[in-house]
Amino acid sequence: MGKAETMRSQARREFDTWAGSYDRSLLNRFMFRPSYLAFLEELHRWRKDTPEPFHLLDVGCGTGTFAGMLAATSLPAEIVGLDYSAAMCQVASGKAHQVGMQKRVRFVTADSEHLPFADGSFDVVTCGNSFHHYPHQQNVVTEVRRILRPGGRFMLIDGFRDNIVGWVTYDVIIAAVEKHVHHAPWSAVDGYFKTAGFCEVRRRKLNYWFPLLLTVGTA
Ligand SMILES: C[S@@+](CC[C@H](N)C(=O)[O-])C[C@H]1O[C@@H](n2cnc3c(N)ncnc32)[C@H](O)[C@@H]1O
Repeated sequence: MGKAETMRSQARREFDTWAGSYDRSLLNRFMFRPSYLAFLEELHRWRKDTPEPFHLLDVGCGTGTFAGMLAATSLPAEIVGLDYSAAMCQVASGKAHQVGMQKRVRFVTADSEHLPFADGSFDVVTCGNSFHHYPHQQNVVTEVRRILRPGGRFMLIDGFRDNIVGWVTYDVIIAAVEKHVHHAPWSAVDGYFKTAGFCEVRRRKLNYWFPLLLTVGTA
């Protein structure tokens, strides 16, 4: 098995196993929830003067918590969550059914590198805490650019490893626990966005402990 396939299948195994207890993980409080809130803040700011419905894809959606939070706001989003782990998608669909949100939110099992959607079919793509699992990160950013309409946004959050706290957290501890992962430095992420054709690329650091980097680009 090549390195890329090892990385992909290890992620799928890890999250297929974790799906049942994922929502009870302590990481939810420290890493995942701050990411959902940052996405919501960005979306509210961007869409506040535009009442038209918009299509959002959440890549690496996990158990669909962000999709559920977004569907519960006043933002008129039609939401698709995509994840490589069928078990995570199953938990996500179950949660959406439980709260009667299945009409506004659906989940698809697929690989981030091959998004099963037409060119220009989404207004915004979010991707939180999943990018470090992708063997070909540039390909994913290029693929996201393909499915965004002109003027659409890509909002990416992943571990910030460009200071000492982030380096110890992600390159030492998380890398030892998860093995086949790669937290890209800001310079690489910036390069991926620009190579894919995004403009107005900006970044924001979140959190002191478990630092995160939010990168936003316009298609
Ligand atoms: C740490 S979880 C983050 C989930 C969610 N975004 C959140 O913030 O709670 C990472 C997710 O990325 C998914 N993932 C890993 N590799 C993937 C790939 N190649 N394509 C799509 N999803 C992938 C995993 O299955 C997992 O659900």
